[in-house]
Amino acid sequence: MRRKFIAGNWKMNKTAEEGAALARELVKALAGGGKADVAVCPPFTALAAVGAELKGSAIALGAQNMHWEKSGAFTGEVSAGMLVSAGCKYVILGHSERRGLFGETDATVNRKLAAALAAGLAPIVCVGEVLAEREAGRTLEVVAGQVRNSLANLDARDMLKVTLAYEPVWAIGTGRNATPEQAQEVHAAIRGLLAELFGKASAEAVRIQYGGSVNAANAKSILSMPDVDGALVGGASLKAADFAAIVGSS
Ligand code: PGA
Repeated sequence: MRRKFIAGNWKMNKTAEEGAALARELVKALAGGGKADVAVCPPFTALAAVGAELKGSAIALGAQNMHWEKSGAFTGEVSAGMLVSAGCKYVILGHSERRGLFGETDATVNRKLAAALAAGLAPIVCVGEVLAEREAGRTLEVVAGQVRNSLANLDARDMLKVTLAYEPVWAIGTGRNATPEQAQEVHAAIRGLLAELFGKASAEAVRIQYGGSVNAANAKSILSMPDVDGALVGGASLKAADFAAIVGSS
C-alpha cells in the first residue's frame, strides 16, 4: 500500500520571515501526525528559516529546482549538495513553469535527476500536457514521452526514491483541475509505463502525485482515485488551513 505524499510548492512566494511564519502555522496545524508524508518546498532564500521551524516535526523540506553540476561557474544556480546541506530531503524537477519559462527539457531534467539521486535527494519529477495537446487527444503520448526521457538510464532501485507528479499544464493556477477520472486515466497509464520500464514491483511502489488547482474542496475526490498517491499543491499550499485540510483529505 503506497503512503500518500502531499507536497507544497510555494513557487516564488514568501520571504524567509514569511516562510518561517507559515511553517510555524503548519507545524501546529499538522501536529497530530497523520497518514500522509508531507513536505513544503519554499524558495531557496527561505530554506534555512523554514527548515529551522520544521525541525522535530514530521514535515520535510524540499527545494523547487537545482543544477546538475556539483559546483562551478554557473551564476545564479544551486547544486544538489547545497540543497542537502540546507536540510532538503526533496527537490522538485522539471516543473512545467521551469520547462515553459526557463527552457528546461526532458534531457536537462534527466541530468538533474541523476545529480539529485547521487546527492541523496528524493526527486519529484513533474510531467504534464498543455491544453492544445489534450485537445488534440495526445495527452497519454506526450506524458509517456516525458516520463521515458526524463527517467532515462535510471534503474529500478533508483526509481524507488523518485516521486512523479502529473500536472496538466492547463490545470496549474487556473482553478480548473482535472477531474478525478482524467487524473486516474493518466496516472494509470504512467504506472503501466513504469512497469514496462522498471518492472511491476517498482511501478507498484512509486508514488504519483496529481498537481493542478488542488484545494481543500476537491482534494478528497482526487486523492481517492486508486493511482493518485498524493498531491503537489501550489496556490493552496500558501495558506496553512487549506494545506492542512488537503493533508487531512488523504
Ligand atoms: P496550483 O499549482 O496548485 O497553484 O495549480 C500546482 C503546481 O504548479 O505545482
